[in-house]
Amino acid sequence: MTLRLVELDAENLPAVIRIPPVVGEKAYVAPVLHSIAEAYVTPTAWPRVIMDDDEVVGFVMANWDPESEMAEFRGGIWRLNVADEAKGRGVGRFAVEQVAAEARRRGYDHITALWEQADDGPEQFYLKLGFRPAHELFGERVGILDL
Ligand SMILES: CC(C)(COP(=O)(O)OP(=O)(O)OC[C@H]1O[C@@H](n2cnc3c(N)ncnc32)[C@H](O)[C@@H]1OP(=O)(O)O)[C@@H](O)C(=O)NCCC(=O)NCCS
Repeated sequence: MTLRLVELDAENLPAVIRIPPVVGEKAYVAPVLHSIAEAYVTPTAWPRVIMDDDEVVGFVMANWDPESEMAEFRGGIWRLNVADEAKGRGVGRFAVEQVAAEARRRGYDHITALWEQADDGPEQFYLKLGFRPAHELFGERVGILDL
């Protein structure tokens, strides 16, 4: 596997928006289409496509807003969607490591992620990658990864 992050463009967009969940499906993360629309109206959003060679295998969106009134939203992972056929191959880990590296470049000493607590949700993934569970916010668990 040769994983890399690239910016969204007209060529990769069709494959990126096919990554589950589809609009209307109940899931622990928003559809990519929704995230891209949010990125369009959020200057601090940092959406990236995860490629394995020339194949789109995921989507990650960070947010870099150090002035945010809410500490939880100053810097971290906002969305992460790995394509079904690419799950379990280290794509999610790669995305988190890349967001952490970008955060270090920007001078952050930690990043956050928020997740729904459910047996089949992403909590174990984030804990495995070193996030420590903190307080709850809007019914979700806030996780902090020290850099
Ligand atoms: C959660 C998700 C991002 C994980 O991505 P992934 O590419 O399959 O994860 P990785 O292969 O990088 O796994 C990294 C580690 O976490 C572990 N892991 C991943 N998902 C896990 C789960 N559901 N339960 C327990 N451990 C898990 C892996 O075993 C691996 O551990 P290892 O390094 O010891 O082998 C992916 O399953 C996904 O897109 N889920 C649906 C959307 C979602 O929940 N996104 C997060 C929203 S906040």
